[in-house]
Amino acid sequence: MRLLVTGGAGFIGSNFVHHVVANTDDHVTVLDALTYAGNRASLAGVPADRLTFVHGDITDAALVSSLFAKADAVVHYAAESHNDNSLDDPRPFVDTNIVGTYTLLEAARRHGVRFHHISTDEVYGDLELDDPERFTESTPYTPSSPYSSTKAGSDLLVRAWIRSFGVQATISNCSNNYGPYQHVEKFIPRQITNVIRGIRPKLYGAGQNVRDWIHADDHSSAVLTILDKGVIGETYLIGADGERNNRDVVELILTLMDQPSDAYDQVTDRVGHDLRYAIDSSKLRRELGWTPAYSDFEQGLSATIDWYRANEEWWAPAKDATEAIYAGKGQ
Ligand code: NAD
Ligand code: DAU
Repeated sequence: MRLLVTGGAGFIGSNFVHHVVANTDDHVTVLDALTYAGNRASLAGVPADRLTFVHGDITDAALVSSLFAKADAVVHYAAESHNDNSLDDPRPFVDTNIVGTYTLLEAARRHGVRFHHISTDEVYGDLELDDPERFTESTPYTPSSPYSSTKAGSDLLVRAWIRSFGVQATISNCSNNYGPYQHVEKFIPRQITNVIRGIRPKLYGAGQNVRDWIHADDHSSAVLTILDKGVIGETYLIGADGERNNRDVVELILTLMDQPSDAYDQVTDRVGHDLRYAIDSSKLRRELGWTPAYSDFEQGLSATIDWYRANEEWWAPAKDATEAIYAGKGQ
């Protein structure tokens, strides 16, 4: 199969490319604008005959159309992805997440290409800490931030293009990913690289917020399963039963890195900070037979710490500028 992967130089997109190359015979074309979040080095090691890299923007309709003409299927990861950035400047989120997705859908419609849209559990808003329910495919959309509202908008565009124009698409909404190649602006790599640099980890507020962690490689295997067996028009939630509050995660990182577990700072909380995400992925498991491989979060986190220790040249160029932005906000 000839796969076109948008955002394939980002965190989850690059993990997906490595997963595809290791587990299939598919050829991958990556379309990526190499924003501050994209890194060509994240695709190092992929054999040249398996990968074509195209530096370009998903809002470029002519370029997108020419690439769709040569693809059997498209997996759409490209996005502005960081909630904190969306609170500072929402505009790029509207451009890429909404206009970019619209541009891809028009190409999918014109070329009749199978399309898989990558989205987030954040479209469902947040849950109380003691709510016995988790998000399902029928939970109403109540996004909180400019990031999550643009992702919700993109999901609704995909649904409309399926119903109105017969686009052959599926959607997945996944919980928080961790693993190699994640930008140091995000929670887990920020704290790991802080400890490596001798900076104290930074916890927003009291750290009671819960995220439902899944290893990026499990996200990739779920997406391949949906591409292979998913029913056109359907949405699948992806999660690995990994709920943990932020305080516990920071303390675990410190312990795994041989530091006192209380050696962190509490900093200014995120505005409108979602309290808890939790995914019920039983539809994907029951109907398509998917199961995650990384059942032990501590083991996956430990391997992720090892990766950041071994790959300082990958993350160091972004570290100082990222911390300067946070420092300017008291975070
Ligand atoms: P990321 O920020 O690490 O990577 C985004 C990639 O998209 C980068 O390589 C960037 O250069 C590229 N990009 C941005 N704008 C572009 C444009 N206009 N044209 C072409 N390329 C562009 O993001 P991520 O964390 O890997 O997230 C990937 C996708 O997964 C996003 O759609 C996100 O909403 C979704 N998602 C992320 C998580 C998570 O935990 N990180 C969880 C669920 C869903
Ligand atoms: O749920 C899926 C979403 O997960 C994806 O759609 C997003 O693209 C992805 O960025 C992620 O969003 P979050 O906002 O949950 O991730 P982030 O890594 O920014 O923060 C995780 C939690 O940690 C959140 O409760 C905020 C908190 N936090 C974050 C940072 C950067 C801290 O306590 N300290 C920090 O320094």
